[in-house]
Amino acid sequence: MYHGCRVVGIRRGYQGMLAGEFQEMDAGSVSNIVHLGGTILKTARCDAFYWPEARAEAARLLREAGIDALVAIGGDGTFRGAHALTQEHQIPVIGVPGTIDNDIYGSDATIGYDTAVNTALDAIDRIRDTATSHDRLFFVEVMGREAGFIALAAGAAGGAEMILVPEIEVSAEEIHRVIAAGVARGKTSSIIVVAEGDEEGGALEIARKVRALGDVECRVTILGHTQRGGAPTARDRVLASRLGAAAVQALIDGDSDKMVGMIGGDVVRTPLPETWEKKKGLDRTLYELAGILAT
Ligand code: F6P
Repeated sequence: MYHGCRVVGIRRGYQGMLAGEFQEMDAGSVSNIVHLGGTILKTARCDAFYWPEARAEAARLLREAGIDALVAIGGDGTFRGAHALTQEHQIPVIGVPGTIDNDIYGSDATIGYDTAVNTALDAIDRIRDTATSHDRLFFVEVMGREAGFIALAAGAAGGAEMILVPEIEVSAEEIHRVIAAGVARGKTSSIIVVAEGDEEGGALEIARKVRALGDVECRVTILGHTQRGGAPTARDRVLASRLGAAAVQALIDGDSDKMVGMIGGDVVRTPLPETWEKKKGLDRTLYELAGILAT
């Protein structure tokens, strides 16, 4: 609006787009929501958008509604859909990375990640009170179906004994060995952070395997969707504000088929296909440091 553009919100993502759920926005549309989680436009998964016929219908509906460019906020699936839409129907699109998992190439952080990490960290701190008071071992499962970014950051910040992530293979035997070594050093309580997508299974499965190896008593806490809600952190609010503005600027510049992200403090535009073809690596140095600090 600052640039003189008309702004239309699309409710429920591609699903709403296909149903023509367009909502005229004005400056007041976003009043008093800066501190809220979730989305006033709602969101949905939409398998239909994988079909070219659905994208053709979407393009027709967008044009009919006078929408001549699209800002798509989401992750992998959102960007694949946006890329196909612009390739097939020449509607300019710019992606904005919004997922708690942080598993998108082209931005140091995705919108929602910092909030999720801090929510997980707060839970870990609270669980530590019981772990310490009762001399217990806890497995705490955080989200991350295919990536360990939340687990690594929350685990490192929360002083986890071990951090189990899908990117790094650690066997149940090794976990058992580390627990036993901790006990031998005099540790009476520990927290092990597990990303839900760990190759050994989720926290329940890992706890079962470790118990089966003998002499381990433990509790399991699954944080689940608590990590996807609540007031966003200052860092997330600032990131979202900057990337939203950067997306509009990219469209004004005539750019398309790119994602805007922040790398080293600068706005960077990355071609959409690169965002899923290239992999953002986990910070191995931090992973190793967390291991050293736990011993
Ligand atoms: O994609 C982000 C994510 O938070 C994953 O880490 C998690 O597995 C998934 O969403 C759960 O989402 P849903 O309940 O919508 O399937």
